[in-house]
Amino acid sequence: MNNRETDFASPSLLVELRSIVERLALGQLFPKPQPLEVELGCGDASFLAEYARRNPDQNFIGIERLLGRIQKLDRKGRRAGLANLRGVRIESAYFMQYLLPPHAVSALHIYFPDPWPKKKHRRHRLINEGFPALARAALMPGGVVYLRTDDMDYFGQMTEVFGASREFQKIETPAELAEVLTDFEREFNAQGIPTLRAAYQVLLAAGVIWTKTA
Ligand SMILES: C[S@@+](CC[C@H](N)C(=O)[O-])C[C@H]1O[C@@H](n2cnc3c(N)ncnc32)[C@H](O)[C@@H]1O
Repeated sequence: MNNRETDFASPSLLVELRSIVERLALGQLFPKPQPLEVELGCGDASFLAEYARRNPDQNFIGIERLLGRIQKLDRKGRRAGLANLRGVRIESAYFMQYLLPPHAVSALHIYFPDPWPKKKHRRHRLINEGFPALARAALMPGGVVYLRTDDMDYFGQMTEVFGASREFQKIETPAELAEVLTDFEREFNAQGIPTLRAAYQVLLAAGVIWTKTA
């Protein structure tokens, strides 16, 4: 049977937005109330489906603007029987600003966002000077932004804007997270292009970092 035609008994994992001006009722999206992590620009969800499978005690939402790609999240998630995964087809910054309830997310994953390499196009980059404030508003105390890219210039911009924010502190990416590769990452790494990675945690107060105990 062709994968595209695979028939699943479980309902779609794609969230049908009833409104684009009201925030999501997160409690109604998942069977279990668990910490929520979001991947912005999840592509074909190679990373997210695998990471959700490895972390059944967390809920995950993938955000992607292309229909064909978000449909892959749906197919992968249903094939794996994942109750903790959902997808939303929407623009990432809009989702963060208008649809996510404040301080609802424990981790944001942003992997290989479009680099817009031409200087005149850089204003289209998702991670710009305004992004740390957007991320801060979405994250709960102790929440973390995980970043990966192949693009040296964009990586410089990412580390500069988060480095300049007094609300985040640089931390290490855990090995068990780094080992789950994205689709683009696998392709870049196969060509010998390394992953540039950084992670920033929301500071609770000056010098105090929240650590996960369970
Ligand atoms: C270079 S791909 C990386 C995909 C995936 N993160 C990976 O590493 O395999 C960037 C993805 O982000 C999506 N994307 C780009 N800009 C977006 C935006 N503003 N909102 C939502 N998705 C976006 C693209 O459609 C694409 O699937």
